[in-house]
Amino acid sequence: MAFATIDKKILQELEKLVGEKNILVRKEDMAAYSHDEFSSEDIAHFPDVVVKPESAEQVSCILKLANEYTLPVTPRGGGTGLCGGCVPVHGGIVLSMERMNKVIEVDAENLMAVTQAGVTLHDFYKAIHACGLFFPPHPGDEGAHIGGVIANNAGGARAVKYGVVRNFVHGLEVVLPDGDIVHLGGKLMKSSTGYSLLHLMVGSEGTLGIITQATISLLPPPAVMYTLVIPFDSLSKAISTVPDILRNKIIPMAVEFLESKTISITEALLHKTWPCHEGEAHLMLILDGSNEDEVMALAEQVQEIAMARGALDVLIASEKSKQQTILDIRSHIYEAMRAYMLEILDITVPRASIADFVNAVHRIEEEYQIWLPTYGHAADGNVHTHIMKAHFEKGEWKENPGWQRKYPQVRKALHDMGKKYSGLVSGEHGVGFVKKEYLDTFLEQKQIALMKEIKKAFDPRSILNPGKIFPS
Ligand code: LAC
Ligand code: ZN
Repeated sequence: MAFATIDKKILQELEKLVGEKNILVRKEDMAAYSHDEFSSEDIAHFPDVVVKPESAEQVSCILKLANEYTLPVTPRGGGTGLCGGCVPVHGGIVLSMERMNKVIEVDAENLMAVTQAGVTLHDFYKAIHACGLFFPPHPGDEGAHIGGVIANNAGGARAVKYGVVRNFVHGLEVVLPDGDIVHLGGKLMKSSTGYSLLHLMVGSEGTLGIITQATISLLPPPAVMYTLVIPFDSLSKAISTVPDILRNKIIPMAVEFLESKTISITEALLHKTWPCHEGEAHLMLILDGSNEDEVMALAEQVQEIAMARGALDVLIASEKSKQQTILDIRSHIYEAMRAYMLEILDITVPRASIADFVNAVHRIEEEYQIWLPTYGHAADGNVHTHIMKAHFEKGEWKENPGWQRKYPQVRKALHDMGKKYSGLVSGEHGVGFVKKEYLDTFLEQKQIALMKEIKKAFDPRSILNPGKIFPS
């Protein structure tokens, strides 16, 4: 795609639309907009200009201009993505949503919140908690923007019982690449009214339209929540306990698996303490219910199942502050590993295959002698394997010899394994440009062709987030 370059005249027009102070053009000011959370310097691409609109109308004017001149536009939320989705690989305009940061309404009667897309998860939780309501998904980094988590259909730890972000999105205001503004869905719990453009937008990674506002369903908060930490002497014992828990009709809010080593590295980063240091691997569960007796009965049932599966102990955190510490440590593992990490994978497999898949990951680790710490969302079948440059031994990082040569081979071996277990390349991080070469491996050609047709119908000039999702 031949894009036009941004000249003085276009800059002046952009300035007229949003005001001079809401435009960045100096390299040093744009550095923070050239990458996402994943290996910043390796994937950085600078835009020509960063534009910060404050309304859907301004976004519309910017897109009309971009469409007229054929300028690439890359939307950006909190920049917490892990596969380069908000990186302007073709330069042009980065459309930063940071000024659209207001929660417009918390409607307790309808159990819905209406929010601008640039609200951070942190602020969103705060606003709805203040109204005594609850938004179950917790996609890790609370600096993520609502628009970004919708554009990636994020999941996170608390998706087992209540579902991923998609399940909570009921309405969207979207600015299309030609500048038209559409309103999809609303404060509605049901819709069988034609194709769901709403759900097409969820997970479209900013390639079909710019999400400017969302209507999100909420729940009354669970009266009681307990977090359980269960150590095991092996990861496979830990993971193979999970189907037993679910088969016994216990559906926790979260079921995570972690390796002890990654927990200690994260404890050191945060200066916080995980409740137990026994064993090689841990399960972390969040149980909820309407009273203490109910949740304690569930916890006891889980304890019985886990002990029968060889658990070394079962720790129950009933205090809020302890639960928060556990969730914080769990949510920062990625950050703790990042300095020595080449890539984080996000493969998703059927949940009954997760133990076999993780065992296969360990065989690849053995074969290539490269550390592949693996954790993730056990009951969702969503596995995060980190491909590492170094391993952590006796409190020190030591380089994995030959990682440069091994990295592409290990990466391929892991994805081939995901395919073998009927998985997909991404369960919650999206494809961005980091994973796009794997789209062909996991999807049928016909599906990719249909997706490209859809892209063309929305964005015939391919101005919106170009270079993402599709390998070519
Ligand atoms: C997590 C992010 C990396 O699960 O998805 O911590
Ligand atoms: Zn995750």
